[in-house]
Amino acid sequence: MRTPIKSLLAVAAVAALALSGCGRTDSGTTTTAGSTGAAAGGDTLIGVALPQKTSENWVLAEQLFKDGLAAAGYKSDVQFANGGVSEQQNQIQSMVTKGAKVIVVGAIDGSQLGTQLKAAKDAGATVIAYDRLVKNTAAVDYYVAYDNFKVGVLQGNALLEGLKAKKPNGPYNVELFAGSPDDANAQVFFDGAMSVLTPKIADGTLKVVSGQKDFAQVVTQGWKAENAQKRMDTLLAANYSATDLDGVLSPNDTLARAILTSVKATGKANPVVTGQDSEVESVKSIMEGVQYSTINKDTRNLVKATIEMVQAITKGGKPTVNDEKSYNNGVKVVPANLLAPMIVTKANAKEAYANDPTLSQYVK
Ligand code: BGC
Repeated sequence: MRTPIKSLLAVAAVAALALSGCGRTDSGTTTTAGSTGAAAGGDTLIGVALPQKTSENWVLAEQLFKDGLAAAGYKSDVQFANGGVSEQQNQIQSMVTKGAKVIVVGAIDGSQLGTQLKAAKDAGATVIAYDRLVKNTAAVDYYVAYDNFKVGVLQGNALLEGLKAKKPNGPYNVELFAGSPDDANAQVFFDGAMSVLTPKIADGTLKVVSGQKDFAQVVTQGWKAENAQKRMDTLLAANYSATDLDGVLSPNDTLARAILTSVKATGKANPVVTGQDSEVESVKSIMEGVQYSTINKDTRNLVKATIEMVQAITKGGKPTVNDEKSYNNGVKVVPANLLAPMIVTKANAKEAYANDPTLSQYVK
């Protein structure tokens, strides 16, 4: 238990982290960070199990967790599982063995951590699902993420707006992409987008020329750029030799750039392509008028909200949650603290990234 003055210092440290620019550097390493903790001097261990580095947000989270947890007076064990699910399972098991009080999990496969998370609960740890929901287990206490359904809605709206700006009237020829089916977010992003796009497909404004409209048909295994690029190559060859492609729903920036690379190789006109994550290369692309939109989900704020949750839990209190109905993981509704995502296009990029010292460089 921290004294009030120590707690204040810890909060101040986390607030300073949120304002600092320590974000967009890829340290590229996985280490176990320990800290004597200038703020609190505690020896409470917090485990953070991150997935593969499939997008910049995960890379950013690593250093933010290390710095933020140390500043708040915790010891941390921050791990990536680039080797896959079994590596992540072993890492979580090891955090339990080391006595972690809270385990924060960004799951590779949200359905395959039940055994390890049950062990965590049995050992008295609290489990927080970070960014991605953990499914089919009672052994998860809280969820902290940007509102995933809203992300999809914003992507769907951006696609429609981008198409309209290009030519005032449809029908527009489009293709749909979703993320990796083992990531619980992928379906939610897609459902959010389709809540906007399905009526427009039904009324003929949008034409999915390939006919591939179901989640299972449009997924991108492992969120891998090469898989999206390959699928786009195939779609173009099969459906667009004599047809224009007006737009593509892409669930994130990494895949958006892969899709654009594929289209470019055919010599076709640049379609309207959505994205997510505000990755540096995509922000540059948006400013050049190539990728149409992205989503700002500032990782600094998500890590800060997570550390605030950790602080509430380790002080024996209840963390802030603002949604106790949306995230049913198959076994229970997981109380969630959802942050608001923001759509970014060339039109609002300057204002959107005003507080981001890295991204604001590209939007002058
Ligand atoms: C995250 C996205 C990210 C994707 C791929 C998702 O779970 O919410 O921000 O683009 O994983 O890494």
